[in-house]
Amino acid sequence: MEWGMANRMAQIIKADGHTLIMPVDHGYFQGPTKKLEQPRKTLEPIMPYSDALFITRGVLRSSVDPDKTKPIVLRVSGGTSVIGKDLANEGLTTSMEEAIRLNASAVGISIFVGSDYEKDSLLNLAKLADEGERYGIPVMAVTAVGKELEKRDARYLALASRIAAELGARVVKTYWCENFAKVITGCPVPIIMAGGPKVDTELQVFEFVYDGMQNGAIGVNLGRNIWQNPFPVAMIKGIRAIIHKNANPKQAQEIYDSEKGQSA
Ligand code: 5RP
Repeated sequence: MEWGMANRMAQIIKADGHTLIMPVDHGYFQGPTKKLEQPRKTLEPIMPYSDALFITRGVLRSSVDPDKTKPIVLRVSGGTSVIGKDLANEGLTTSMEEAIRLNASAVGISIFVGSDYEKDSLLNLAKLADEGERYGIPVMAVTAVGKELEKRDARYLALASRIAAELGARVVKTYWCENFAKVITGCPVPIIMAGGPKVDTELQVFEFVYDGMQNGAIGVNLGRNIWQNPFPVAMIKGIRAIIHKNANPKQAQEIYDSEKGQSA
């Protein structure tokens, strides 16, 4: 791996080989998502506990101070909305030149395997990977499912993750699922877990994050289950302990319980 690529990978993946990336990109198709209406406010308390941000150029420029930030994974796909015809019909929204201007450490793109726009999203990934390799900028592929959350099983996610790696993604972001080892085993590049819609209890989150890490994921890119929690700082501290300190779900829950009285 060339120096620039290796250096940028090291900015988003910490020395222990793990990472906690904080996604706040949801507005690019959902508009002012609950608890992310004002991204600056959402980010301020949790940024210190994040290793990197997954963010669009608009929110980066408007809501993150350039002298108080974290490594950036720039969301560069979009062009659809939750009220439009098909979420899968994304294109590239941001050039590699802009990613360089914003000093991004990586770029992120969604792919929609099995959708009507499978080929378009996969060719967009391949094109982005070509440009990323030219400039030494890693590409993170997101195996998106749009509104079809039921697609999140090992067979589908293993297929989508493997295709993303084959087409040049340096990192794949996918969902945790039952039999997650199948997804990890079939994917020759590191896998980061997305969170998905908020679940009922903190323990459920700690349990799936722990299971994913035990099975070989390198970390999370997990947003709503942190910043939609009533105690986001307590939540991120619990998850951080699983990612970087090998805590188990019970220990993460203890951290959450003891922190939630002190933070909001
Ligand atoms: C949206 C994304 C999000 O970054 C991803 O879904 C992670 O966030 P969450 O944990 O809230 O699901 O890619 O398309």
